Amino acid sequence: MDYVEKRVAQEASKPAAANDSLFTPLNVLLIGALLYTVYTFIKPKAPIALPKEEPAVVFKTFTPRTLLPFSGENGAPVYLAVRGRVFDVSRGRNFYGPGGPYANFAGRDASRGLAKGSFDEEMLTKDLDGPLDTLTDLTRDELEALQGWEDRFSEKYLVVGKLVAVGDENKA
Ligand code: HEM
Repeated sequence: MDYVEKRVAQEASKPAAANDSLFTPLNVLLIGALLYTVYTFIKPKAPIALPKEEPAVVFKTFTPRTLLPFSGENGAPVYLAVRGRVFDVSRGRNFYGPGGPYANFAGRDASRGLAKGSFDEEMLTKDLDGPLDTLTDLTRDELEALQGWEDRFSEKYLVVGKLVAVGDENKA
C-alpha cells in the first residue's frame, strides 16, 4: 500500500468531520428559528373567547294566572307586573324571592301595593281569571309613587312581557 492509499484509508476511518460542522453556533440558531416557526404553525390555537351573551329576552304575554308561577320558588325566575308590564326581577331575588320582604309581589300584579305602599292581601288581584286592576281609584300621590317605582324598575330590570286579562291574550 503506498502512502496515498494509506492516507485515504486513514481519512475514511475518521468519524465524519462534516457532521461536526453542522453544529456551528449559526446553524444551531437557524435550526432553532426553523423549529420555532414550524411550532407556531402547528401549535393548537387557543379558542377565541367571545363575550358571554345575555340570553335573548322573549317577550311574552301573561295573565295573572300564568304569571303566578314566577314567584322564585325552587330557583324559578321572579317576575312581577306593574301597570301591564312584566318585569324580570330575578336580580332582586333578595327582595322578592321566597322569604324576601316583598315576596308578596312575586308572580303578581304589584301595581296597587306599590302605589299605596301596602303589603295587604287585598292589594293583589284576587280573581286570577278576571279583569285586571284598573287602578282608576288611585290618588294623584299614589299614582306618582307608582310612577317612581316603575321608573326604578325600568332602570334596573328587563321587561319580559305584558300582563293582560284572561281572554285578552291575542288582542294587540
Ligand atoms: C319600614 C318600611 C320600609 C323599610 C325600612 C324599607 C327598606 C327598604 C330597603 C333598605 C330597600 C333597599 C333599597 C336598595 O338598596 O335599593 C328597599 C327597597 C324596596 N322597597 Fe322597601 N322598605 C320599607 C317599606 C316598603 C314598602 C311599604 C314598600 C311597598 C309596598 C316597599 C317596597 C320596596 C321595593 C319595591 C324596593 C325595591 C327593591 C328593588 O330594587 O327591586 N318598601 N326597601
